[in-house]
Amino acid sequence: MREELDDIREREGLLSGDPADGRHKDRLNFILRTFMKITLPLILVGTILILAFPSKNLERSAPKYFNGSHDFHSTVLLVSYDGFREDYLERMITPHIAEFIRKGIKAEFMMPSFPSVTFPNHYTIVTGLYPESHGIVGNEFYDPILEDNFIYTSPHQSIDSKWWGGEPLWVTAVKQGQKSGVSQWVGSSSVIKGYRPTYHFPYNSSLTIKDKVSQVMSWLDLPLDERPTFIATYARNVDLEGHRSGPYSVNLNNALTYVDNMTHGLLEGLAQRNLTDIVNVIIVSDHGMAQTIPSNIVKLDNSFDVSKIRPIEGFPLAGVRPYNDSDVLDIYLGLKDASYNQPWECFAREEIPERFHFRASLRIAPIFCIPPVGWVLTTNRDFDHHKIPRGTHGYDNLEPEMRGIFFASGPAFKNITREMKDNAVKGFINTEVYNIVAKILDLVPAENNGTTGGILWS
Ligand SMILES: *[C@@H]1O[C@H](CO)[C@@H](O)[C@H](O)[C@H]1NC(C)=O
Ligand SMILES: *[C@@H]1O[C@H](CO)[C@@H](O)[C@H](O)[C@H]1NC(C)=O
Ligand SMILES: *[C@@H]1O[C@H](CO)[C@@H](O)[C@H](O)[C@H]1NC(C)=O
Ligand SMILES: *[C@@H]1O[C@H](CO)[C@@H](O)[C@H](O)[C@H]1NC(C)=O
Ligand SMILES: *[C@@H]1O[C@H](CO)[C@@H](O)[C@H](O)[C@H]1NC(C)=O
Ligand SMILES: *[C@@H]1O[C@H](CO)[C@@H](O)[C@H](O)[C@H]1NC(C)=O
Ligand SMILES: *[C@@H]1O[C@H](CO)[C@@H](O)[C@H](O)[C@H]1NC(C)=O
Ligand SMILES: [Zn+2]
Repeated sequence: MREELDDIREREGLLSGDPADGRHKDRLNFILRTFMKITLPLILVGTILILAFPSKNLERSAPKYFNGSHDFHSTVLLVSYDGFREDYLERMITPHIAEFIRKGIKAEFMMPSFPSVTFPNHYTIVTGLYPESHGIVGNEFYDPILEDNFIYTSPHQSIDSKWWGGEPLWVTAVKQGQKSGVSQWVGSSSVIKGYRPTYHFPYNSSLTIKDKVSQVMSWLDLPLDERPTFIATYARNVDLEGHRSGPYSVNLNNALTYVDNMTHGLLEGLAQRNLTDIVNVIIVSDHGMAQTIPSNIVKLDNSFDVSKIRPIEGFPLAGVRPYNDSDVLDIYLGLKDASYNQPWECFAREEIPERFHFRASLRIAPIFCIPPVGWVLTTNRDFDHHKIPRGTHGYDNLEPEMRGIFFASGPAFKNITREMKDNAVKGFINTEVYNIVAKILDLVPAENNGTTGGILWS
């Protein structure tokens, strides 16, 4: 525009400095006045428009929904009930969840990524990446390049950005001009790709249902410009009792009642705000749970010199990482011998079955032993016999007992073809969740391992 102005001035001799007689001056003044009155305002208005709408990408489209008093953009509330096994629903003690599915959909199951444990899978759900690609390959692992241990129970260590690859949904949202509010989710306290969630409550095991519901509702009650479109929250109770008391215990059933109550609280909060048909709610879990078989705790001590390896990684599986690379081959051969005719199997990292997508990271131990469901592979040094859990998970992600859940309801799920009987769609793996949410929020997804456009609509 500056050039355009200069051009006009030049043509009118305004920049030339030529001496001009009176009549010439009058004519010039007339042209200048005309220019100021008509052309300049047009140029200014144009400029303002261009500045206000710089590119389609950053400009938010108009809100799509109205709840009777407020405008809303497409919104997703993602809820995780840790360790909610797919068949727990059949116990018929979660009436609010059942009612939720009756109005929405459920996947027959949601298959976890391998290994079927909490940190890798929660982070897969929000990034769409297999653990080998997002880097959180276990709840605890050693990184030989960083020369450091990731320990999930130690937030001051695990919070460091260096651990977290990929791009979680709350970052995708913020990068594209939307807002996110995340409570309790794995990874949400860390700065990832330079971003945090817009609003955030860190993991705190003493929060009540009421606390969690009011966190979510406080975000929905913000004015349109400040309100997050991606919201996530979490409850650990079902997993905790699955480990402590086992998947068939009374305590486990009480934990199911607890998350059913939490579902009720969240749905009531939405209903009170006339948001039932506006906010898309997705309820997921990260993995299932299997009864531990105490007679099948296998000690690997006889196969090699335990002092030559770091602490075993990947419980109840055994990631074996010798301190010295030159010991890998011997220990591998020893374990191969020991596993001969056994139901468990050991692999060199490069041999881990392709379908696990669990090779492409040095954070995966160079030797990885995988037991059948319910078994534990460990060493005397690494295992405390007083702490045999009643339930475990982490096994082959194809095992039915490792399956988690995907239930959803809201406007985005209205046009999905489902089975008449129980509103079910086919089961899928949890790398799909990222693209499903990105599609609903109209976000351009980061690179990931899910189906382009979201598996539910393709
Ligand atoms: C609730 O929202 C719907 C649109 O989703 C609207 O038609 C209806 O009038 C609202 N109800 C109230 C009580 O505002
Ligand atoms: C966790 O929440 C409880 C109850 O709201 C609160 O008293 C406590 O300070 C919180 N702890 C942390 C570490 O934030
Ligand atoms: C679930 O809610 C019911 C009714 O509000 C209450 O009686 C029960 O104690 C709650 N159970 C749990 C485990 O929170
Ligand atoms: C619409 O949502 C806003 C924000 O949560 C809430 O304050 C308001 O009461 C809701 N309106 C209706 C008619 O329920
Ligand atoms: C690893 O083992 C080799 C062969 O025994 C030895 O030469 C080397 O010093 C060891 N490296 C370390 C770091 O201990
Ligand atoms: C169903 O909804 C999705 C998401 O809103 C949309 O992209 C898709 O085009 C719809 N499909 C049909 C057949 O209406
Ligand atoms: C998963 O996606 C990442 C990022 O695009 C890619 O590097 C990786 O090869 C993919 N993994 C598989 C098994 O396709
Ligand atoms: Zn878990």
